[in-house]
Amino acid sequence: MATNILDVLRTKRDGGQLSEEQIEFFIDGYTTGTIADEQAAALCMAIVFRGMEPDELATWTRRMLDSGERLDLAGVGRPTVDKHSTGGVGDKISLPLVAVVAACGAAVPQLSGRGLGHTGGTLDKMESIPGWRASLSNEEVVDQLRTVGAVICAAGPDLAPADRKLYALRDVTGTVEAIPLIASSIMSKKLAEGTSALVLDVKFGSGAFLPEVERARQLATTMVGLGRSYDVRTVALLTAMDTPLGRAAGNALEVTESVEVLKGGGPADVVELTLALARAMLEQVGIDADPAAAIADGRALATWDAMVRAQGGDPDAPLPVAAHRRVVRAASSGHVTRLDARAVGIAAWTLGAGRSRKEDPVSAGAGVMCLRKPGDEVAAGEPLLELHADDEARFAAAEAALAGAVDIGPEPPPPSPLVLERID
Ligand code: URA
Repeated sequence: MATNILDVLRTKRDGGQLSEEQIEFFIDGYTTGTIADEQAAALCMAIVFRGMEPDELATWTRRMLDSGERLDLAGVGRPTVDKHSTGGVGDKISLPLVAVVAACGAAVPQLSGRGLGHTGGTLDKMESIPGWRASLSNEEVVDQLRTVGAVICAAGPDLAPADRKLYALRDVTGTVEAIPLIASSIMSKKLAEGTSALVLDVKFGSGAFLPEVERARQLATTMVGLGRSYDVRTVALLTAMDTPLGRAAGNALEVTESVEVLKGGGPADVVELTLALARAMLEQVGIDADPAAAIADGRALATWDAMVRAQGGDPDAPLPVAAHRRVVRAASSGHVTRLDARAVGIAAWTLGAGRSRKEDPVSAGAGVMCLRKPGDEVAAGEPLLELHADDEARFAAAEAALAGAVDIGPEPPPPSPLVLERID
């Protein structure tokens, strides 16, 4: 009997497992437009409640991947490895990381997206560099990987087009937060890049997309399993996102902080996570090199400069600066015991660093500088946060977002690990 959409919907609604034929019918039909948005939304909602079995998810992911092209990186001449982060506030790690890992001899094809909501997008950050171009042809990607070893660019429309359509629908139908849908969405895009190995930075905590550690662990395990089933060497690190990474949240502010890391400075947490992910990436492709040495001797910074120039950017040009600044001061004296990542992300977004709709522009200079982080001492009246915006009218909403975001106590908070565990 021929498959039809109502049978597909009823199967999942009643807790059954979709057959290979039903999955192919749905993914192909939705991508080509023969299945309507309301039918696809109904299936996504049924998956939110009913979940998916591992072999069902593997078939679903394969069909999403097969909906478009897969990049052929065979001509790159170096082992290829990428990183994906589930996103966090101040998460600029991709910027220094691609340069460090490429400087150690691997090729990093970082095909990224623009930000939506309170976590910034890698392309938005890179686009604050004057002249830098996000859009590259496949030939340009391969060429740059061969010559420089690092590319950060926009994922083209032919990579996993089924996900493009489905993710946009999930975004407006309350169906993003289902582990099988998230895992297949991320992995179909990453597998389409053609990388031979992948390291996943799966975040938990208030600023993360899945705040509960158990859900983050489940997502990480699911994605590692999917990667392995495609012979892509995949590991995940579960990392904390309760407080912003580093001190900067905002596009140009984060580029500046990333370059500080490449120059051998920068905040300790950004350095720690960059090195932890770099080591995992190099290990995945069998390169025995010390990423810290690549920073210390200037190779990583030289690779960054070459990557930016290859895409039309000027790494020496001054970055955009917001027209206005406002300081948020400490209400009491003591140690900062909590600085809430989500509140800082929402404040940066409100100041103009992020967008609410895909079409919105972002302000390159807007954002938040965290002048004090958990563990730092502060006296009443001293600056805690510095808000940057092009439009002064945005400060009030950002200050409201930050109400209750900082706790100050008599003692510093107990230390907690940034990298909680590794999932192989
Ligand atoms: N990021 C993605 O790419 N897909 C999801 O479903 C969720 C986060």
